[in-house]
Amino acid sequence: MKIFDEIESEVQSYARAFPRIFHKAQGEHLYDEDGNQYLDFLAGAGTLNYGHNNPLFKEKLLEYIQEDGITHGLDLHTKAKAAFLNTFNEKILKPRAYEYVMQFTGPTGTNAVEAALKLARNVTGREHIIAFTNGFHGVSLGALAATGNSHHRGAAGVSLSGTFRMPYDGYLGDDVDTTAYLEKVLSDSSSGVDLPAAVIVETVQGEGGINAASFEWLRNLEAICRKHDILLIVDDIQAGCGRTGTYFSFEEAGIKPDIITLSKSLGGYGTPFAVVLIKPELDQWKPGEHNGTFRGNNFAFVTAKAAIDHYWSDDTFSNEIKRKGKYVADRIDAIAEQYGEGNFTSRGRGMFLGINCVNGDIAGKITHACFQQGLIIETSGADDQVVKFLCPLVTSDENLKKGIDIVEQAVKEVCAKEDGIPEESDYFDDVRVDD
Ligand SMILES: Cc1ncc(COP(=O)(O)O)c(C=O)c1O
Repeated sequence: MKIFDEIESEVQSYARAFPRIFHKAQGEHLYDEDGNQYLDFLAGAGTLNYGHNNPLFKEKLLEYIQEDGITHGLDLHTKAKAAFLNTFNEKILKPRAYEYVMQFTGPTGTNAVEAALKLARNVTGREHIIAFTNGFHGVSLGALAATGNSHHRGAAGVSLSGTFRMPYDGYLGDDVDTTAYLEKVLSDSSSGVDLPAAVIVETVQGEGGINAASFEWLRNLEAICRKHDILLIVDDIQAGCGRTGTYFSFEEAGIKPDIITLSKSLGGYGTPFAVVLIKPELDQWKPGEHNGTFRGNNFAFVTAKAAIDHYWSDDTFSNEIKRKGKYVADRIDAIAEQYGEGNFTSRGRGMFLGINCVNGDIAGKITHACFQQGLIIETSGADDQVVKFLCPLVTSDENLKKGIDIVEQAVKEVCAKEDGIPEESDYFDDVRVDD
């Protein structure tokens, strides 16, 4: 570990929670340099929906490397890019009757978000973007302005302008439809909320604590955008690529965003890759306006195509995700009910799930105890209060059970040592007073 302490920046984060030197990985398992096996329910923060080193993709990638395929990421036309575009069009867009063009941005999610926001502003000639409480869209300055988390925002060093924040679904309690507030402020010329270029939304907020918006809320949001001529951007970077049970997380809501951002598991192999899908009439970029050296990753084209060919040619995989998601959700419900003294809640959709443990201290103790038992699992939420399940979607039934058994045991042990589980409202009142 010495070298990391010596010369790697203090900005490290995940490495602090899992202080091992990892060496190999396969499927839902990671191995450290001493050969210890870990079940991985973090999956590269959602980049490994198809597991580590998926053998089907590895074969294609090795073939590509053997043939001296193009490796750099300039936006030249390559055979690998053409093949990926064809597959994406035939197997993802056309069966859903979606018409989008694809922009290859820099390979991080945040760069795709930057591009989406820039395009929305340029097309509409308006500056402001509406983003939601607890939303996470990345940490480069434009995306950071749309991100809620104060820890990340605090590092900006400049004012983060150009966004209005609106309450996400459920933010004011289950009985309040927050889109009614949005509609009200947009319809009131004296509300102080200027007509925005776009609304950016996650259908399930990942980093914000696995908050799932209802389909009805998403449909209301789309209707408001249409009524006021505002572009709808769905940031599907974490919720997309099957995580919620369908390829895009908004499919079952029946909405059609104007712009979609995708990254994380798009490349399929952990290979950095990000794109923006744009309704054709909105593709008003001039050549090179949103530029970058790495715009498209040829290795990722190869593995992304293999992922779509293998997993998304029919409904089999989607049905499997839903089946497994139901198993995990049922187990999580039972754990929350049995140990949370009425204060733990389960949350999420598909295989994008979590247990809200009310405070970050308890959730952190749980994930730490899991790690001691060989399970890698992280927290998310404003106070890291949610234990977040991002199991690879290909995790076997046996290993899903094994991982959740470890979580259950950890919850049981941690809760037994706590002096009562705080209620959510008490806890956040306390936080506000202390702040
Ligand atoms: C919804 C969403 N958008 C954007 C990002 C930023 O992606 P990246 O970390 O690759 O910049 C993330 C990262 O977690 C995310 O979850």
